[in-house]
Amino acid sequence: MKVLASLLAFASIATATFQADGTAFKSPVTVAAGFRARVVFSNLTSPGGIAFDDGHNLLAVEIGVGVSAYSRNTASTVPGWDRTVVLKNPNVTQGIQVNGRRLFVSTGQDVLVYAYEPATKSVVNSVPPYPIIDGLPADGEFASHTILLETNATGGVTGMLVGSGPKENIDLAARDPTSGHSQIRRFMFPTIQPDTVFPPVPLHWADGQVVAYGLRNPAGFAFPTGPTVTPAGRKDLFVADNAASIEKLPGFTPQFANGNPADEFNHVIYEMNPISTSPVPISYGYPVCATLWNPSADPVGDPQYVGMHRGDQFSLQLTDAIDDSWCQNKTNLNQPPALSFQAHSSPADVKFFTAPAVSNMASFPSSLSNDAFVSFFGSFDRSPPTGYGVAHIPFPPSSPSETTLGYRFIVQAELLNTCPGSCITPDGLAFGVDGRLYVSSTLSGELFLVESSPVVPQ
Ligand SMILES: *[C@@H]1O[C@H](CO)[C@@H](O)[C@H](O)[C@H]1NC(C)=O
Ligand SMILES: *[C@@H]1O[C@H](CO)[C@@H](O)[C@H](O)[C@H]1NC(C)=O
Ligand SMILES: *[C@@H]1O[C@H](CO)[C@@H](O)[C@H](O)[C@H]1NC(C)=O
Ligand SMILES: *[C@@H]1O[C@H](CO)[C@@H](O)[C@H](O)[C@H]1NC(C)=O
Repeated sequence: MKVLASLLAFASIATATFQADGTAFKSPVTVAAGFRARVVFSNLTSPGGIAFDDGHNLLAVEIGVGVSAYSRNTASTVPGWDRTVVLKNPNVTQGIQVNGRRLFVSTGQDVLVYAYEPATKSVVNSVPPYPIIDGLPADGEFASHTILLETNATGGVTGMLVGSGPKENIDLAARDPTSGHSQIRRFMFPTIQPDTVFPPVPLHWADGQVVAYGLRNPAGFAFPTGPTVTPAGRKDLFVADNAASIEKLPGFTPQFANGNPADEFNHVIYEMNPISTSPVPISYGYPVCATLWNPSADPVGDPQYVGMHRGDQFSLQLTDAIDDSWCQNKTNLNQPPALSFQAHSSPADVKFFTAPAVSNMASFPSSLSNDAFVSFFGSFDRSPPTGYGVAHIPFPPSSPSETTLGYRFIVQAELLNTCPGSCITPDGLAFGVDGRLYVSSTLSGELFLVESSPVVPQ
């Protein structure tokens, strides 16, 4: 996402410890047929990344405050949710992952692991947080390093992927994968005992394996659950990436920049053997190349794109050597996206759905198994506003074109013209064991869920 830190509420407000079901959204939402959206908790401080622990408690990063936990209150006569504080740490920015009794969070500088007790939803205060990966590059104004645990075939944790964004909107240093900017790195954990025993020394960002670069702000990434044709020894990853803003670049009119470039859903394939040099990591274009969303956004001011197609690569004209044909030439290892998203919609997270073993009425239908769900924080520099919702992407994603969008919103702010205002700004996503999708909404301070709801014939 591209939200500026100045928009976030950093002061912790006194939040309730219980919220009854039935609270209205701060601003109304539109929900697709067959689904229903319900508020879980309100008045939170900038909720960001979310994840479930082994006890099925929902944990949420409250950016600049810490981590809080949410679970059903079964004792109360009024049905609702309990909220407790798991840890306070003003440095937490976005990323959260839980594995047994290890709780991982990202800050601007490092990935911390806390000793965590799912039974009490608390961290072990006698064990200080441990910087398992240090030296992360500062991401400029919004240091939101996304993290994702990598597991092996039996579910054992083997390592972690960590994302980094650009230093500034157009970060020329990011062309070089050794810069550490605008990319995803992989860290293998040494063989460690389960639970709370940490590796003897921290891992360092500089030693991480670059799995993909030229991803301007890889805000969300996840391993697909559906079948792929990737050979053994390599792994698939899908990445929701935020494109650069081009309205201040020479060569693009404001009208063209209002409709371009597309945000991206990228398919990354990386080598599992970290010391292998083949294949070399591929660039996804940033900062020199970008993806067309609306080639005809300004047929008068920028007519050279009329006749090209959504998803085509074009040059941001930062150097003479890199023109549109360079960006489109596969020999230059610039990989176009698997799917293009509406320009300025700001994808924030992606999760793949696996139908629960025991089906229930509220679960997403098993027909959606292996499909992707992407949160869109929403636009800050487009008229009219776009995003502000959560979309369903059938798997595998189909080629983008002007006539097929390739995704559809299942929940979206109803009053788009008032956004951001008090609209939902969907950010973190997590599926519960109940097959419902939980969503954090950073600027409205809400956690909500999306569930199946039978379509009642009219
Ligand atoms: C959230 O805070 C506002 C302002 O303090 C208050 O009016 C509202 O009742 C709160 N909402 C809930 C669900 O507690
Ligand atoms: C937050 O980061 C600062 C600067 O690195 C550090 O001094 C402080 O101890 C950190 N706070 C916590 C709770 O870890
Ligand atoms: C998976 O990882 C776990 C812990 O990291 C390890 O104990 C287990 O042997 C691994 N399984 C396979 C099949 O490699
Ligand atoms: C792509 O680039 C290579 C290497 O510069 C060049 O030989 C080739 O002609 C280019 N292909 C096209 C279609 O421009």
